[in-house]
Amino acid sequence: MRVALGVSGGVAAYKAAELVRRLQQEGIDVQVVMTRSAQEFITPLTFAALTGQKVITELFSGESGGANVESAIEHIAVAQRIDLLVVAPATANVIAKMARGISDDFLTTLYLATTAPVIVAPAMNVNMWEHAATQENIGTLRARGVHVVAPEEGYLACGMTGAGRLAGVDAIAQAVCARLGIEHDLRDETIVVTAGPTCEDLDPVRYLTNRSSGKMGYALAQAAARRGARVILISGPVRLDPPQGVEFVSVRSTEQMHRAVLQHFAGATALIMAAAVADYRPIAPQAAKIKRTGERLTLELESTPDILADAARGKGERIIIGFAAETSDVARHARGKLESKQADLIVANDVTAEGAGFDHDTNVITLYARDGREQAFPRMPKIDAAHRILDQLRALRTPSPQISETQRVR
Ligand code: C5P
Repeated sequence: MRVALGVSGGVAAYKAAELVRRLQQEGIDVQVVMTRSAQEFITPLTFAALTGQKVITELFSGESGGANVESAIEHIAVAQRIDLLVVAPATANVIAKMARGISDDFLTTLYLATTAPVIVAPAMNVNMWEHAATQENIGTLRARGVHVVAPEEGYLACGMTGAGRLAGVDAIAQAVCARLGIEHDLRDETIVVTAGPTCEDLDPVRYLTNRSSGKMGYALAQAAARRGARVILISGPVRLDPPQGVEFVSVRSTEQMHRAVLQHFAGATALIMAAAVADYRPIAPQAAKIKRTGERLTLELESTPDILADAARGKGERIIIGFAAETSDVARHARGKLESKQADLIVANDVTAEGAGFDHDTNVITLYARDGREQAFPRMPKIDAAHRILDQLRALRTPSPQISETQRVR
């Protein structure tokens, strides 16, 4: 999703920096456009550092002062690229220009050139806000379909008290998300997600592990956080950065993951075990490096604790989702796991299928739910697969009539 954030010249301009961060947490790519007077309050450099993108400040800007063709048509390119334009803070002046169709700088030109939805969050002195001219302009914009995030009442920078203070960053971000169709349907959930492999030491330099990259678990954590859940990501060693907005717990062995999951699941509403947990570990890891002798070496392994099955004991209303990475007879193994692990949903994938399983950016999944629902999906990016899994987590919260029947019997 791409959003242009127009910043105009008011004391509240500094709050736009916080808005950039909030929008980025939703996975939105933000292009900042500043009016000339906005730059009196906050520098373009602040926004450039936050977004990692050039901030647009001029309608015509060339390398050595003179305009070039790219810059002259940039407003059209930006206008076509964006999914939404939000102006925050919007001054009385910018609102007036937008209402009248005056386009004498980049921001107001962008407003005319884009067909994307537009949101304005006004901020100004109370008398300016209440002035008939401003109210008329706001009315004009509203009638045109522009969404206005109304300013709040309170103490204003000018020393007066009244309406005119920029709406809270959360309220503006919410308006943006609503317009973009980004839902916070998981806001009541606290979800523990495990990801990556676990490592079982043989000696100080060698260990047993598997080919898990952590990509599926990280995608789930990212998707759940975007949908408003509190997310605790418990990860084995992987080469990925934790997604923004998740609480991160780093572990190495199955034993550590076991402890972390039981601890965090106690205060959670759901557990998604996407980690490829080692099923066996050396019975006696050596304190010193095992020497090469030239002889045959036999390693004795023992079963690791089944984290999922342990967490499922006494889980109550909490939802547990497990994974079944199989190389054969996928459906039978997945259904079996629903029972043996007391899971509510099993995500099965045939790791031998093309574009599925370890280290791929795509996955081919089939979902088996406890209530009998079964859904097979075509190959898709792991982030999309994550959303389909979370959709099922939602569906499990609203059981079908048939399920409520059995629950009543119980
Ligand atoms: O039994 P299997 O290892 O095939 O089951 C896979 C599922 O169980 C995955 O969700 C995995 O994260 C979880 N698991 C676990 N503890 C283990 C092994 C696997 O929670 N020791």
